[in-house]
Amino acid sequence: MTKPMITHRCKEYKELHAGIVEKIQKALGTDMDVFLVGGSATVMLEAAIRNGVNSNSLGITNGSFGNRSIELGELNGKNVTKVQVPWGEAMKPEHIAGKVTKDIEAVHWVSNESSTGVFSDSLALSKEIRAQNPDALTMIDAVTSAFAMDLKVKELDADSIVFGTQKALALPPGLAIMLCSERLLDKAKTVPNRGFYGDLLKIKKQADVDYALTTPPVSLMYALDYQLDKALAEGMQTRYRRHQEMADMVRNWAKKNLYGVFPEEGYQSNSIGVLNKGEMDFDSFSSKLKAKGYEISNGYGDIKEKTFRIGHMGDTTPAMIKELLSAMDDVLEE
Ligand SMILES: Cc1ncc(COP(=O)(O)O)c(C=O)c1O
Repeated sequence: MTKPMITHRCKEYKELHAGIVEKIQKALGTDMDVFLVGGSATVMLEAAIRNGVNSNSLGITNGSFGNRSIELGELNGKNVTKVQVPWGEAMKPEHIAGKVTKDIEAVHWVSNESSTGVFSDSLALSKEIRAQNPDALTMIDAVTSAFAMDLKVKELDADSIVFGTQKALALPPGLAIMLCSERLLDKAKTVPNRGFYGDLLKIKKQADVDYALTTPPVSLMYALDYQLDKALAEGMQTRYRRHQEMADMVRNWAKKNLYGVFPEEGYQSNSIGVLNKGEMDFDSFSSKLKAKGYEISNGYGDIKEKTFRIGHMGDTTPAMIKELLSAMDDVLEE
């Protein structure tokens, strides 16, 4: 990131941009368009709905970020039908049985709900959606699953998959990444008022010549290029197994020392552990842990008081998690 700045309208930039796109496609096993846009992930989550829906969408939610995706649709003037799944449970095909009617233009959901630590089976949801309404677009928030868990992007055949640099890519925030289908681009042509910044057709026109639509965070892109090389060298399946290993360590610790993890069995996230805290005084626990050099997070949204969260993704290793858990043992003992 400390390399000298270059203009984003030059050959050297084009090589950087094209290289990143190619590496993301390779890592995720897809030939979908890859759009790189300055901003946090939300900018492209919003763009997906704004570009892909004229009137009606279906939003499935099992937590805070699912609720956010519904709000994004509503605030852009779309009529969003909400499917509420209880917090801590995974979204499953039966939750949307008969709900993807012909008038539903898109269905959107969060693959890994960061407030609850639930990783839903997006492939099973996609199959159910397509079986009911093959024309409905599928829009997936993969902010805390991309590069941590295998999304099976090819089989998913989704219309948008969005994430950012600051989670499992282990980088500073500032760049939103969208995998975009041709179907979504075709649909966008029928949707007026797509705005400027998130207009997928404008972004696509520039992306086709390895440019961003507006000034991109070039320094962050150097760092992204570096991290992608590292991910590819590690191997994606090895990377996913590393995340699984870290998650298992945290779950076992939670079972042994507290009241286990919040999400339902079989759908637990490998990037975020959401632990039931019982009567533990989290503020005191986390400040003692911080004094030892470790930072974990409180609960989020409706389950803020019941849980706390441990991020185990990106560059974090099982050895680091082992150290953290041992420090947590010491603090509990204290
Ligand atoms: C699942 C999920 N979706 C969306 C977001 C919002 O992402 P951003 O803050 O990059 O816009 C977050 C942020 O934590 C998230 O965890």
